[in-house]
Amino acid sequence: TVLVVDFGAQYAQLIARRVREARVYSEIVPSTMPVQEMLAKNPAAIILSGGPSSVYAEGAPRLDREIFEAGVPVFGMCYGFQLMAQSLGGTVDNTGAREYGRTDLHVSRASSTLFEGTPAEQAVWMSHGDACSAAPEGFVVSASTDVVPVAAFENDEKKLYGVQYHPEVMHSTHGQQVLEHFLYRGAGLSPDWTTGNVIEEQVAAIREQVGDKRAICGLSGGVDSAVAAALVQKAIGSQLTCVYVDHGLMRKGETEQVEKDFVAATGVQLKVVDAEERFLTALKGVSDPEEKRKIIGREFIRVFEQAQAEIIADDGPEVAFLVQGTLYPDVVESGGGTGTANIKSHHNVGGLPEDLEFQLIEPLRKLFKDEVRMVGQELGLPEEIVQRQPFPGPGLGIRIVGEVTKERLDLLRDADAIAREELTAAGLDREIWQCPVVLLADVRSVGVQGDGRTYGHPIVLRPVSSEDAMTADWSRLPYDVLAKISTRITNEVRDVNRVVVDVTSKPPGTIEWE
Ligand code: XMP
Repeated sequence: TVLVVDFGAQYAQLIARRVREARVYSEIVPSTMPVQEMLAKNPAAIILSGGPSSVYAEGAPRLDREIFEAGVPVFGMCYGFQLMAQSLGGTVDNTGAREYGRTDLHVSRASSTLFEGTPAEQAVWMSHGDACSAAPEGFVVSASTDVVPVAAFENDEKKLYGVQYHPEVMHSTHGQQVLEHFLYRGAGLSPDWTTGNVIEEQVAAIREQVGDKRAICGLSGGVDSAVAAALVQKAIGSQLTCVYVDHGLMRKGETEQVEKDFVAATGVQLKVVDAEERFLTALKGVSDPEEKRKIIGREFIRVFEQAQAEIIADDGPEVAFLVQGTLYPDVVESGGGTGTANIKSHHNVGGLPEDLEFQLIEPLRKLFKDEVRMVGQELGLPEEIVQRQPFPGPGLGIRIVGEVTKERLDLLRDADAIAREELTAAGLDREIWQCPVVLLADVRSVGVQGDGRTYGHPIVLRPVSSEDAMTADWSRLPYDVLAKISTRITNEVRDVNRVVVDVTSKPPGTIEWE
């Protein structure tokens, strides 16, 4: 395992992902973890992330210098680099020599472990106020910029390396290569971690954990619960029962995908509860978004608990486990103990009450989203499920501005299906993070269709690009794709005579309209 020490910026998760892209397993630990404890994990290498502080700031995170003396290869980036420089006797000046953003790096490749085979001039992403003016003794300086004399240093004997910039971000053109040089050449690791290993490991662990008892899993139609269920199914087969609550708020074809394709691909035992009536009745007359969310969440839990009770009541072995599709970012963010602020707290539908007497099985706890997709693919799940874009638990219920009715849901489902079809046909699925399609049911607009005046409703397209849904920008979709979607929706969907595009970033707008 490579440990990524998180100094409290957004970078640690990205670094951990990059390390895994290099097919080396990595985990994030907070910088407040005592060095003894880090070393007790027997790391194959340690990476010190960037962070928002200056090494001179009061209360800036520190690290016992023991970490550099344990014989474990260490790679410091940005703040981690400066900390390393300072701890080992180099000079870090608080000179106000700032560099932010894209910077040209001058590299001397002779006898460099990090930069071999990369260009003498390369673009890197900088973000720092302080600068290192002298490397510690025994270190070779292998890169500089116009502003910073020491932008990278290396000590092969001690296996200590550092760069002032952020190799993990896309804008550092050879960043991944430099990181891999550290991992393979500096630390002597091999690229042998794969999602295949993950599956094998998890299957064995789940079998051991469950024994001859039973487990249940709520399927939401989303990627995470589907992959978690498929993995557990592979481990314990018919000892797993999945529950899918059809709340009638799914998009076109999604329920069928779960009921048919998912079951066909996995052989999972599935209990489908058709609760459309119940949800629609509970939502009758309600247009306040928070109210809708509460009702949907409440009804969901009731229906799920009822289904669960029925499973428990049959005369099979004890149902002792609940499967959840928790991902690594959730784990890091809710207890990783980093100083990082702004953590989202979207409770998924499927977020269950706390008094349940189940033990949790969380087979995706160590994985990032893209890795979950890879595992899903390897398990043979349908592409439509594995590549599905994020979809809110309350479903289309929060994409109808106004009261939710069956008629409006059908109309929105049609419009949404058209938008999805055209985006897929244009090859834009990977470029956009998601594209909510929203029905402004409480707004009417005048149109002219055929020979007459119409008085219908507008549909909003909300295509966004994002890394994590915390912030987002509106996607600049090609005009001809927008035109196609608009023409088709107004032609094919009854009561819609206008299509508009939302061009608001987040913040200030959220991704969803409600
Ligand atoms: P917002 O609208 O807050 O959405 O910018 C951020 C991301 O979260 C999704 N979302 C939800 N997911 N339950 C969920 O499971 C919810 O209640 C919910 N509300 C929003 C949204 O689709 C986007 O990906």
